[in-house]
Amino acid sequence: MAQIGIFVGTVYGNALLTAEEVESVLTEQGHQVTLFEDGGLEQWQAYADRVILIITSTTGQGGLPDNIVALFHQQVKDKLGHQPALRYGVIALGDSSYDTFCGAGHTFDALLQEQGATRVGDLLEIDAVEHPEPETLACRWAAAWGALL
Ligand SMILES: Cc1cc2nc3c(=O)[nH]c(=O)nc-3n(C[C@H](O)[C@H](O)[C@H](O)COP(=O)(O)O)c2cc1C
Repeated sequence: MAQIGIFVGTVYGNALLTAEEVESVLTEQGHQVTLFEDGGLEQWQAYADRVILIITSTTGQGGLPDNIVALFHQQVKDKLGHQPALRYGVIALGDSSYDTFCGAGHTFDALLQEQGATRVGDLLEIDAVEHPEPETLACRWAAAWGALL
């Protein structure tokens, strides 16, 4: 069983609600899960050789929500280099009517790839147009993802 830190990026709360449901699924599988709404570098580094799940919506034109943007830029991107021991997953919430569909999730994924972390499973894109209740799709994905850890 894995120790998993879920880092959430949200504007209106959809990603947070999704993260809470996913946390339940992973906990039921026997994983030890902690959810961070405003996680910083210290929390991130506690999972450097464990598992991180990013669950983030996209705002503006492909941007990261305010509650996760500093973690991305000033901390993970600027202060950490190589992260070879980290395994991670990404659930990206977005809306396909934007050109920058699920941009924030893809931005985080690209950075972690660049830093040598290992993504477990495929990045999950959840389109608000097709899935008004993102947690349903996310929980199905999380059940399969948790089994890979
Ligand atoms: C002002 C605004 C800008 C948005 N920009 C994007 C975008 O660039 N790309 C995208 O895929 N979705 C975009 N979205 C859609 C949100 O990411 C989507 O509705 C998501 O479910 C919101 O989740 P949250 O409540 O956790 O913030 C935008 C939504 C709003 C209201």
